[in-house]
Amino acid sequence: MLIDSHAHITDEQYGDGGAGIAADMKKDGLKALVCVGCDGKSSRDAVAAAEKFDGVYASVGVHPYYPEIVTDELLDEFKTLSRHDKVVAIGEIGLDYHHETYDRDAQIVALVKQYDLAVEVGLPIIFHSREATGDFIEFLRAREFPQSGVMHCYSGSWESAEICLKKGLYISFGGKLTYHNARVLADVASRVPLDRLLIETDAPYLSPAQKLGEINYPKNVALVRDKLAELRGLSAEEIERITAENAERLFFKMKKQ
Ligand code: NI
Repeated sequence: MLIDSHAHITDEQYGDGGAGIAADMKKDGLKALVCVGCDGKSSRDAVAAAEKFDGVYASVGVHPYYPEIVTDELLDEFKTLSRHDKVVAIGEIGLDYHHETYDRDAQIVALVKQYDLAVEVGLPIIFHSREATGDFIEFLRAREFPQSGVMHCYSGSWESAEICLKKGLYISFGGKLTYHNARVLADVASRVPLDRLLIETDAPYLSPAQKLGEINYPKNVALVRDKLAELRGLSAEEIERITAENAERLFFKMKKQ
């Protein structure tokens, strides 16, 4: 059975708080998924979905788009939420310099505060890094990751991936891996050690090549699995088993359910 390590099933594009996706998980071959928070509301919604639905787990965190909302009050709330049985990670947190108006200093402060929280509560971290490689690598190099973490929707170079791997992190591949022009990414995906690989959808975003222009769904993680199987010369079943085992090792609270 598949595990989608990163999705946003309470996104308003689905309109039902994730109920439809959760109801279809078994039929779609999904054993579990992590519903990832991006701000206060989506983190609370993720925990609510995890409470309601079997196989749905949550993470809490603030995306680098919104560093100004990372207040002490919100961090306190995340600390409380992190004790919930089905909150398996802190994230998604990181650096994203894609939009012109980004505030670099504020993003770094918000990232470090949430990293400190993850270390304090003893949970793995879901990282988002886009167009900020230099600063992100500098952040990684200066720190340890006692409960590990994952580079979500990885799209960087092999050199950066190696640094993440040396820090004990996992590398997660999403729909981008299925794009025909994703040669660098395909090379990285063929080199990451098997015990550090995860797969994800980032649904409702980043649909795989076969579903471009459509809203993405966690069930499409099967298309990422198939591409990874092709690149690794393994069967889809083997990749499915390996990535599910890896997800359960990283998100260790999943196993206790
Ligand atoms: Ni995401």
